[in-house]
Order: sequence, then C-alpha cells, then structure tokens
Amino acid sequence: MCGIVGVVGDRQAVEFIVQGLRRLEYRGYDSAGIAAIDPGDDAISVCKTAGRIDNLAARLSKRHLVGSAGIGHTRWATHGPATETNAHPHVGQGGEVVLVHNGVIENYAKLKEKLIARGYQFSTETDSEVIAHLVEECRRRRLADRKANEPPTDEQVIDIVQDALVQLRGTYGLAILFKDRPDLIVAARLGSPLVVGVGDDVHYLASDASPLAGFTDKIVYLADHQIALLTADTLQVRHRDHGAIEHSVEVIEIDASDVDLGGYEHYMLKEIFEQPQSVQNTMRGRLSLDDATAVFGGLNLSPQELRGVDRILLTACGTSWHAAIVGEYIIEEMARIPVEVEYASELRYRNPPVPRRTLVFGITQSGETADTLAALREMKRKGHPTLAICNVVGSTIAQEADGGIYLHAGPEIGVASTKAYTSQLAVMAMLGLYFGRLTHLSFDQGYRIIEAMQKLPAAVEKALEADDAVRKIAEKYQAASNFLYLGRHFNFPTALEGALKLKEISYIHAEGYPAAELKHGPIALVDEQTPSVFIMPRGVVYDKVMSNLEEIKARSGPVIAIASEDDDQVAKIADDVIRIPMVEEFLQPIVSIIPLQLLAYHIAQLRGCDVDKPRNLAKSVTVE
Ligand code: F6R
Repeated sequence: MCGIVGVVGDRQAVEFIVQGLRRLEYRGYDSAGIAAIDPGDDAISVCKTAGRIDNLAARLSKRHLVGSAGIGHTRWATHGPATETNAHPHVGQGGEVVLVHNGVIENYAKLKEKLIARGYQFSTETDSEVIAHLVEECRRRRLADRKANEPPTDEQVIDIVQDALVQLRGTYGLAILFKDRPDLIVAARLGSPLVVGVGDDVHYLASDASPLAGFTDKIVYLADHQIALLTADTLQVRHRDHGAIEHSVEVIEIDASDVDLGGYEHYMLKEIFEQPQSVQNTMRGRLSLDDATAVFGGLNLSPQELRGVDRILLTACGTSWHAAIVGEYIIEEMARIPVEVEYASELRYRNPPVPRRTLVFGITQSGETADTLAALREMKRKGHPTLAICNVVGSTIAQEADGGIYLHAGPEIGVASTKAYTSQLAVMAMLGLYFGRLTHLSFDQGYRIIEAMQKLPAAVEKALEADDAVRKIAEKYQAASNFLYLGRHFNFPTALEGALKLKEISYIHAEGYPAAELKHGPIALVDEQTPSVFIMPRGVVYDKVMSNLEEIKARSGPVIAIASEDDDQVAKIADDVIRIPMVEEFLQPIVSIIPLQLLAYHIAQLRGCDVDKPRNLAKSVTVE
C-alpha cells in the first residue's frame, strides 16, 4: 500500500517519478506528491495534490519543478483522510528534510506528543509526519558542532537516519531528501518493500520493479532493517544496527509492455484476456509426461521430506484465499492428504494446534500482504516449513519463505485480481498431481491429469469468446442492487470469487454460497430484482445444483447460468446462459471464473466505476 518512487542523477527526475507513480498507482490513489532538488537550490521543491496522479501531473504542468534528485509518493490513506495536506512528501520543521513513507508507525501518537512538547508543530493528521520532524531533530542534534554550512557527510547522514529509525515502532519504506545533500537519497526499509535500480550514473528507487521497466533491469532488493544511500554513481547499503552490507545486483526480466495497457481500455480487461498465456506460463516446464507428475524447482524440500508431509495448511487473504479453497478440494481428492485453509489474518493471532509434519503454503499475488507474511512467520517460528505461491519475484514473502512456486503470470496491475487467480489455481492442480504421485496416484492417472491440464489454455481462450454475450447480460442486470452467486464442489469457491469480483469493482452487494446452503437462509433474499448466478458446468453435482436453481425459479428470481457448452437442459429454465467449454472437473474453476470476471468488468464499466482503481482499495495490502 502506497507507492514510492525516487531517482538521483537524472535531470528528468520529475518526469521519471510521475511515470513511475502511474505504474505504482495500483498501490493506492488517494493522493500523490513529489519533491525534487538540484545542487545549489536553497530549498527542496514540493508539489502535492489530493486524488490521482493525473491531478498531480496537471498541477505540475502549471509549476516548473526540476531537479536531478527527487522522490514521489502515491498514497493509500491509513491515518488522516485523503486531503492535499495529508499527501506526502512531508517536510520536517526547519525545511532541511523531506520524506515519503509507506507503512504504519504504531507509536506515532506518543512520538507526536513528545515532539509537540519540544516545540514541533504538525500540519497533517498522518503518522508519517512524525518521521520528518524526528529526522530533522536528529539532524540538528548530530550536526550541532559542525561549522556553518558544511554539508553532512555520508556517515553523519546515516547516523541521523539511524537515530530516528530506532525510535519508530511499526513498518516503513522511506525515501528521504536532505536539503544540504542534493546529491543523495536515503532509503530505509522495515516491512514495506523497496528496490533500488542501478543505471548508468543514475540510481532509482521504487516500491517494486515496475517503474524501472525500460530504464534498467539491474535491481537490488533491500531487506528489512537496511538503509541505502543512493547517489548518481554510488550505492551503499547498511544494516540499521550492524554496519555495511555487501549487496548483490540481480538482473530481472521486466518488459515495459508488461506494464502498459497494450491497447486495452483497462488493465483488468487486458489481464483477463492474457489468461490463456498466463496459465500456460504458469505450467511451462512443470508438467512431465515422462514421470507423469509435476516438477517444481524451488520447493527446497527433498521428495523424502515431502512424502513425510501428513497435512497441508494453506493460508492467504481475499482472492488468494479462494484459490486456497480450490487447492483444498483438489489436493484432498488427488493426494488424500488433509488440507486446512486459514485466513492469514486469523491464523496469525489464533494459535491453532498445528500438528508436526504440516507443510504450510502462503498464497499471495503480491508477496507483500502483511497478514500473509505474519502468518507465515508465525508458522515458521513454530517449526513448520513454509512455502510461498507468489507472483511477484523477489517480494518479501518470496524471500522469507523456505521455498516456493512462482506463478509467472506477469505483472498484475488491475486492483481486482484475475490472471494471478487462475495461475494460482493451475498451481493448486499441479500440487494435487505432485502430492498424489508421491503417494498413491498411478502413472496412468498422473498422465491423464497432465493431458487434461495441457488443454487448459485453449479452454480458457474459448471461454473468453463469451465476452459479447456476457456484455449483453451485463446490460440487462447492471441496475441490480444485490446478486447471489451459487456453486457446489469445485465451483463453490468460484461463487465466492465471482461475488468478490462484482463487489469490489461495481460496488454492488453480492454473496457467494454453496448452492445447497441457499435454503438455510439466503433464499430469503430472493426476489424478482435479485439475480442469482449459478456456476453449474456438467459434473457429479450437476443435478443437485439444477434442483437448487429450480428453487430460485419457483420464487421468481432471475437466473444466469454458467453452463457447459452442450447443456440443452439449463436453457429451458435459466433466464440467461453463458457457455463454457468442457474440462475435467478439477479444472473447471479455472474456466468458470472467466465469464464471472467479464461480468463484473462489464457491469462496473456500464455503471461508470473506475475498474482499475476501485474506491477504498489498494492492490498490495501491506498493513494489517
Ligand atoms: C481481490 C484481490 C484481493 C487480494 C488480497 C490478497 O481481487 O485482489 O482480495 O487477493 O488482497 O492479496 P495477495 O494475493 O497479493 O496476497
């Protein structure tokens, strides 16, 4: 949550930062701001606005802001509303220090009280402003004996920042400018991600690698408790308490076209249509017909250790939690290993008894979700091996877990998760196959599972052909205030996920249920204005779901059915039918979610909602 961009050594610093903030806008879009400085300037220039980056760009077009060093921020509000005043950057009292912050300072109220008692005046309601005043105060103390106008040395700058950081409790990703060191940006990280990009006589800083696409592919991932000093041609990394650190530069693959709209109106639509390819990429090189099993390079556990696993615990939040439920169904069916699914936000404080020989997976697109990270840390502390199923390479969870599986779905920028979800489901199917083959699935069974999985990308492609039909259905139902989503067995999680997609981008109330639960309460919601979306491809529970559908029709509720392409029966009863291709039952969630993603997208668009940046949300939820 919140995005940070910085650059030093580039005369076009402001342009780079604005573009970088646009690429990070999915992390929050309540307000935005920028600070820049050139050698010789007598102040750090600051420009900030409430609202989106577009507002900031408009303000900048009227104000000539230049600098060769600069920092920028796009905010997801935690403390204080989304006003211009509360926008970052924040300036320390005295104007020597300007900074942007991502994270939450838990002891800010106490610090603020003390700073006020020492004569500091606060102009914002944010927790972040305390850091600006603290750094300013530490600067004054550290430099009390210096000769007038002598700029602080690198060592002094580090001491100043350390003095301030040790007083903070909570999380931070920080980028700091010092007025009398215009050649320098200081970055510090604890719990909020930061990467440094290494260019030719220029260094970049960002919350993730996307702003660097097209500028550099050389990345240094900062770890917790690290402080980095960036100048145009040097990078020093220190541990907050233990001195200098050798940093390693990694070369990553990130293509500017991955983070552009590529002709689509929205990232969400682009990402929905990328799914044949992203699912393919997730499976690439991981299905071995020779051994009739899945192959994972990064589990960091021997087949012996994996065979000894008695139980699997899947933990996640939001859409990733829905993927975990699908995982539970698939792994239990294929591998006969008991699987437990826990919300990460509950698991971290609940302290359930977790038997020995339990393998824990954290499922997360971003790899930064605070609750998932904390839950995995808690499980690790208790001696369980933790593995990450994650999309963002080098993210905090990917680095902290004992091993894992990358989704390789490519950057997901739309706030509503789409392609990461189907890739997570593909991983779940591969894990079912993998553990099944370690235990009791035959070669032949494994082989047939792989053959079915290889047909997936084409099936997803075919499901996307329903787009026009889905749009027409969206036109018909766009004014509804409530929706029900109903499915059973493998498609119960699809009902949850379909409802979540609609809620988050169209602001229509929607509930997902196992279809048979309907008569235990939710059926009271059914009336002529409440559409029910039944996810009912052919399978073992088809007839049962059909009975549930009849129950709705008997009460005059409109029904939209997501049904197999050859299903003639359903069209006689449902008001509208969306066809999906036939796949094996355990793969149905990957195909059946496609029309529901499209339905949510079209309804939101027809209602004039901001599809890629729904209100109140941010993509990377780095606060609990
Ligand atoms: C919904 C959505 C969220 C995320 C959740 C977890 O479309 O995107 O519910 O799934 O915030 O995020 P990750 O997967 O990054 O841990």
